[in-house]
Amino acid sequence: MKILGISTSPRFPSNSDILLRQALAGAESAGPETDYIRLNDYNISPCIACSTCSATGQCRIQDDYQELLQKILDADRLIFATPLFFMSVSAQAKILIDRGQCLWAYKHILKKQLFVPKRDRRAMVIAVGGNKSKKQFDCVRLTMNSYFDVLEMNYVVNVFVSQIDGPGEIQKHPEMLEEAYRLGRDFVTTDAPCPDKPIDVTLV
Ligand SMILES: Cc1cc2nc3c(=O)[nH]c(=O)nc-3n(C[C@H](O)[C@H](O)[C@H](O)COP(=O)(O)O)c2cc1C
Repeated sequence: MKILGISTSPRFPSNSDILLRQALAGAESAGPETDYIRLNDYNISPCIACSTCSATGQCRIQDDYQELLQKILDADRLIFATPLFFMSVSAQAKILIDRGQCLWAYKHILKKQLFVPKRDRRAMVIAVGGNKSKKQFDCVRLTMNSYFDVLEMNYVVNVFVSQIDGPGEIQKHPEMLEEAYRLGRDFVTTDAPCPDKPIDVTLV
């Protein structure tokens, strides 16, 4: 089983990144191969809506996206970590997600399937925000749902953390780090059927 973690915060130390690495450590404790990507280290341009992919199913912009896409397609489990920026994912995350338009075209215009036969691919989201609001993760949920749909991944769990703002502040909360570790391990070891919609785990 291949596990991929994608960290999309631009800052260091990053709360969502620290939680992601805890979750990956938990996953690794169960034995599978893990890979970690910090999106800021990749050169990925935004989608320019050129529509080339409507005919080809492929993105014509040549940059680091092709390498990253291959890793995402190879993964059996994906853990996607983002800070909450203006109620949504980070700009870095959104650039990656928008480049998924070639997959959308592949599926919905060219009517092709990514995987035949279908694979058991599952995704987890970790999102950290500085504020407290019941609705603040709604946009993250919608955007990630749409992205995992084109990736043919089952969106199984959200780990939402509120009121953690300062750089690396999450480190003052060892109980949350432990919980992220446990959730990462459970994410790769469970063989339970996927839920109809992702289960929300709220750490604050
Ligand atoms: C551009 C920007 C926008 C932000 N918008 C929100 C927001 O809408 N809601 C919120 O709760 N926190 C917001 N924050 C605070 C971050 O989500 C918070 O600091 C979080 O811990 C950052 O995670 P990171 O350390 O992984 O980058 C924002 C921070 C920045 C820099």
